[in-house]
Amino acid sequence: MKKLRSQEWFGRQDKMGFLYRSWIKNQGWPHDLFDGRPVIGICNTWSELTPCNGHFRELADYVKRGVWEAGGFPLEFPVMSLGETLLRPTAMLFRNLASMDVEESIRGNPLDGVVLLMGCDKTTPSLLMGAASCDLPTIGLSGGPMLSGKFHGHDLGSGTGVWQMHEQVRAGEMKLAEFFEAESCMHRSKGHCMTMGTASTMANMVEALGMSLPGNAAIPAVDARRSTLAQLSGRRIVQMVQEDLCMSRILTREAFENAIRANAAIGGSTNAVIHLIAIAGRIGVPLALDDFERLGATLPCLVNLQPSGKYLMEDLYYAGGLPAVLREMGEAGALHRDALTVNGKSIWENVKEAQCWNRDVIHPFAAPFKENAGITVLRGNLAPNGAVIKLSAASPHLLQHHGRAVVFDSIEDFHARINDEALDIDESCVMVLKNCGPRGYPGMAEVGNMPLPPKLLRKGVTDMVRISDARMSGTAYGTVVLHISPEAAAGGPLALAQSGDSVTLDVAQRLIRLDVDDATLARRRAQWTAPPLPERGWERLYVEHVQQAHLGADLDFLVGHSGARVARDSH
Ligand code: FES
Repeated sequence: MKKLRSQEWFGRQDKMGFLYRSWIKNQGWPHDLFDGRPVIGICNTWSELTPCNGHFRELADYVKRGVWEAGGFPLEFPVMSLGETLLRPTAMLFRNLASMDVEESIRGNPLDGVVLLMGCDKTTPSLLMGAASCDLPTIGLSGGPMLSGKFHGHDLGSGTGVWQMHEQVRAGEMKLAEFFEAESCMHRSKGHCMTMGTASTMANMVEALGMSLPGNAAIPAVDARRSTLAQLSGRRIVQMVQEDLCMSRILTREAFENAIRANAAIGGSTNAVIHLIAIAGRIGVPLALDDFERLGATLPCLVNLQPSGKYLMEDLYYAGGLPAVLREMGEAGALHRDALTVNGKSIWENVKEAQCWNRDVIHPFAAPFKENAGITVLRGNLAPNGAVIKLSAASPHLLQHHGRAVVFDSIEDFHARINDEALDIDESCVMVLKNCGPRGYPGMAEVGNMPLPPKLLRKGVTDMVRISDARMSGTAYGTVVLHISPEAAAGGPLALAQSGDSVTLDVAQRLIRLDVDDATLARRRAQWTAPPLPERGWERLYVEHVQQAHLGADLDFLVGHSGARVARDSH
């Protein structure tokens, strides 16, 4: 085994060694722990302000058990935790900031390997991005989904149920008192959202990338097997350090291609597009929007989970979890079987004997839940650098549509006018939202699935074409075109759209078009002015440096990695 990185701190027989060891001994560590055993960092996103990660101190204890058992020395440390539901203006504004915290916390400390504790949406990509920029042996451990919500005799899914019930309230079909009663029924255990939202999607991505032990994605947070997985992850990271199995050996081009295909198979969130591109950018794997189109768009969706389908993550676990899905993919030739995973085995070795116990939850490749259901990339004069649509969550009858634009200049403009009974809109219109991209919001909020006007809901309308430069919650659904790039606030053509223009969506042709002639667009462009920069602080730095959605919305100066070497002592 090569000399451990931590020995550059703890192995020194000089004044510096005294300093490095002496202060940490105040926690009661005996001297022999500094004898050259692997020091394992447990990167913890626990926070009471991140409800989905609220059980992570307990989870970390199980990881520590495993690290001790395998002869390592575990040291837990906190990093910025991003809670999707409480953090304003949007947790995505801080994904890159959190990734910087992770990167510098790992690089600056005497760590040989890292266990990443991830759960709520942005905590997974921020930790993977930061760790990838250091490239130490690293294993991912997700916190697990909540148990299925239960309300009035039926299942209730995180997020998805809120959108559905809210529309029922606005349509006058549900009483407000019932709506609030459902609050306590939806989220009744520890864990993250249990629909196939962004958290579950990203937990599946961690597993499909080979960055976790098999089974990571779906074991419920409160199931004893989640604790077992944590303990096994602790054991395994010590071996990974001994094998010098760094992240860059796992996160290969093949691993990302497996993840893109798996995202199609599970009906995963559109947010995975942005996060996977950003993670790939950190580890140095070229990945582009067109890879999602080429690899995923025509794949079938196998998993019948909300918001595309019916079931919840608990059901997916009991049906066989992601291993059963990956086996289906592998047998259909839609998996790079040799891709290495953190347990030292190929992904195929891990899943080739996985069993499916419920074919209504995990469909076979030959008889999928939905055909051609991956994330599809659209282009046209409205989105020269691309936009995405999640077909598994869209309405087939709207995939080829021509309609009059009803344009909202900002999310505030949308909120001010959408409930106005006099709003000139019908179900054939296309709702257009501007200035909600990475720079515009700023932070690219999940507002792309705009609620429909109440007067149309009362008529029984359940979906309309909606387009924007925003993102959409992974728990949301509808015929929603997202991530338009360049965004309006960066001067993209979306900025020039006006109410009354006609818009064409033609998914078969991969087209999103503003049907306005070039001369008119040029006239409008001459009158466009860029929004002012935020005055100071993180928002200022973010807006000045954030890349567009099709590049993963990372900061331009964070792309790439610097390894784990630290050149200087601190004293
Ligand atoms: Fe945390 Fe959904 S709010 S995962």
